[in-house]
Parts: sequence; C-alpha cells; structure tokens
Amino acid sequence: MTAAAPASQDILKPHLEIQGGNRLQGELRVSGAKNSALVLMTAALLTEDTLTLSNVPPLTDIDGMESILVSMGVKVRRSSETIHLQASDLTSAEPPYELVNGLRASFFAIGSILARMGHAKVPLPGGCRIGARPVVEHIRGLKALGAVVTVEHGVVSATVPGDRKRLKGASIVLDCPSVGATETILMAASLAKGTSVIENAAQEPEVQDLANLLNAMGARISGAGGPSITVEGVERLHGCDYTVIPDRIEAGTFLLAAAITRSTMRIAPVVPDHLNSVLQKLRDCGCVLEFDGDGIVITPGTIKGIDITTQPFPGFPTDLQAPFMALLATAQGTSVITEKIYENRMQHVGELQRMGAAIRVQGNAAVVEGVPSLSGAPVNGTDLRASAAMVLAGLVAKGRTQVSGLNHLDRGYAGIEAKLTASGAKLERHCS
Ligand code: EPZ
Repeated sequence: MTAAAPASQDILKPHLEIQGGNRLQGELRVSGAKNSALVLMTAALLTEDTLTLSNVPPLTDIDGMESILVSMGVKVRRSSETIHLQASDLTSAEPPYELVNGLRASFFAIGSILARMGHAKVPLPGGCRIGARPVVEHIRGLKALGAVVTVEHGVVSATVPGDRKRLKGASIVLDCPSVGATETILMAASLAKGTSVIENAAQEPEVQDLANLLNAMGARISGAGGPSITVEGVERLHGCDYTVIPDRIEAGTFLLAAAITRSTMRIAPVVPDHLNSVLQKLRDCGCVLEFDGDGIVITPGTIKGIDITTQPFPGFPTDLQAPFMALLATAQGTSVITEKIYENRMQHVGELQRMGAAIRVQGNAAVVEGVPSLSGAPVNGTDLRASAAMVLAGLVAKGRTQVSGLNHLDRGYAGIEAKLTASGAKLERHCS
C-alpha cells in the first residue's frame, strides 16, 4: 500500500516542522487525561451544585465541550487547568448539532441530561476515519433503564415515561466493553430508582475516574475498573472538587518519544497501573523502566521487533498502536501489529511508508520490518494518534519532516511542541 504524495499545498497547511536526529533529555510533563476530563465535565449536568475539576488539559476538545455545556445553560468558569461548572439553571436538553458533531464524548452526556431532565435530544456522533463507532450499546443501556429512545434524522431522542421522570435501575450486559456506553449508563443509573448492574463493562482508567467522581458527588457505585459494576441509584448528587487522572495515552506517547530517540528521560506524572500493558511492551522491545513514585525513568537499549495486539483495557490500548508502530519501524527485526478495536486504524501506515518505513498491511495486521533509519518528508496526521505517530517518526528521521493535520494533534496533546522543544527536540509550528 503506498500513499499518494501530499499535494504541495499540504505543506502550506499549518504544520510542525521537525528537524530529526536530536536526542532528548530531562523530563516530559504529562497533562490531565483528555478522555476522562471530557466525560467528567458532562457529569456536572447531574447536579445543581458547582463541580470543580482540576488538572483539566488545555485542549481544543475541552473548549468544544465547554461550548456544548454553555449552550445548555451551564455556567462555566475556567482558570488555567481548573474548571468550575454549575448546571443549576439548565435551559436546554438538546445540544446543537454543529457543536456536538465531531466531539464524540459529548454524546455520552445523553446519560446525564436524561437522568437530570427526564428527556434528551442529542445528535448521533458521526463515524470517523478510524471506524463507524456506533452507539448501539449506549442506546440499549438507556432503554434497559426505562427510557423510550427513538433515532430519526440523525438525532437520538430519549424520554423517561411516567410522571416522576425517573429512570429505573436495571441489569445490563453489554455486547462489547464500550468505554462510552459504560460511562453513559453509569451517569444515567446514578440517579435512577433502584440498583443497576453493568456486566461486560469497560475497565479503562477513565471509567474508574468517572465512578470515583460520581461517588465523590454522592453516588453509590462499586466494581468500577472490573467487568461488573453495581450502581445503587440515589435521589440527588451534590457538587465537589475533583482532580482528573494523568493522561495515560500522552504518557505512553512521551515514553515512546524517549524510546524512538534513544534518550533517557523521565515522564511524570504516571500511574503505572494505567499503563501496565504498554510498559510490558516497552520492556519487551528493549527499554529499562524505573518507577520513582510519581514518574517513570526510561532508558532505551537496542530496540527489537515485538508483536502487539490491541485489546480493551487492561490489554494494549488501541490509542497507542500508531505511536508504537513508529518506534517499531526503527527496530531491529520484524514486528506484527494487530488492531482489534477499530476496523480502519492503519491509515498512518501510508504516511510512515513515505518516510521509508517497511510495512505491509494484511487485513487488520501490519507487518513492520525495522529499518536502520527513516527519512524526513511532508506527511499528514490522519487522526489524533496517527498525528502523534508522525511527530515521533519526525523526531528520529534524517532531515526535516513537516507534519500537517495539527487540528487532530491539538485535540489530544496540550502544548506538545513546547514540551518536546524544552527537552531538546528541534521543532516549530508553522501556521500557514
Ligand atoms: C473511547 O472511545 C476513547 N474516546 C477512544 O479514544 C478510545 O480509542 C476508545 O474509548 C477505546 O479505548 C473517549 O473516551 C472520548 P468504545 P469510545 O465505545 O467510547 C465498538 C482517542 O484517540 N462499539 O469503547 O467511543 C466501536 O465501534 C480516542 O483518544 C460497538 O461496536 O470507544 C469501537 O470499534 C479514539 N458498538 C470499539 O467498540 C457500540 O455500541 C471501542 O469503542 C459501541 C462501541
């Protein structure tokens, strides 16, 4: 599979210009978890009190979620990485399409809106380049809790029948351990009448973070982080102050930046249990890792080819598949990387090939033959994590690499060029 050369105007798009070949040193700071903060923000809809979230990453997705909540009447105040949200006077249960479209996490708010207001109308999140990403399980869960749900004209309308407008606890077995479905159901069930049990629940740290927040707000949730979660519904939830967990995917990306440039670095803060599968693969391919209580010191050795298969947590995370492929493209030996979560998450292969990577895609598996060096080229980041992979490849490639697709990158990596530049990388943002 070869990628067409990007048209010259691609290079004129906003891009990161990276001069490859520089070792990095020192420490890379990890921001709060994007995929947690976004959902925690929607939990503010469950109470009239103020919810204060700290360690919120300054990302464009967070800005987007703020706009959605404000459009529904939520009062929002942000100062640096702290955000205060108060949903005492909600004015709408229907976030507008133009704001919701493209921010998948906003769909999960349907659980909070429905539990709080008794009705909700939320546009279906479209698919994206990595897959169709249906919300079948989310809707199944809301129906199990007693909601009447219809889908027409691209909008999911949910209402709670009866005069009390209160959902009823239920037992739900998910067909797949969907992160968003688990989060949507958790928020809806937290205010339901009676007990709910979610079987085959997603076990990701972000699900645990949401359950911990909801419990801090007065919910009664147990088992989060495991395959079976029990929720005893309560009458109301109250506000609280809560700190978002570190972003395990950013942490993994930074560990890979150290590995691909063969640099000894410290990455912090890191919660090792959030990344055990990734830490294991980094050791397997030749890195020495030491946890010092808050961060990880990584010392890369000779990087050897290994096999990786993406799985639901605690398996290897799909969001680090592309960044890890960039590393293995420079390893000694052959790797086989199999993507089991999304049906179309190999688009970074063509871009890596443009830099000299030797990769063959067969179905959902990529066979990566390590090469002695990559060569700098204009490349395009096709989704958030593919963009990160291209930055990593640019750090080690001979010559200059121009990575476009910064709209994707900025969704998930707060100030990535400042962080990497401070560690010795030679890269700068060209806005046109
Ligand atoms: C969350 O997406 C993350 N996003 C994704 O991160 C991450 O890749 C994904 O979990 C898996 O870990 C946020 O949290 C905002 P899923 P989510 O529902 O909840 C299929 C990133 O780069 N599925 O667990 O949408 C689905 O199609 C992003 O930060 C069904 O088949 O993921 C997908 O193939 C990308 N039916 C798989 O399950 C359903 O009803 C995982 O989806 C629901 C999902």
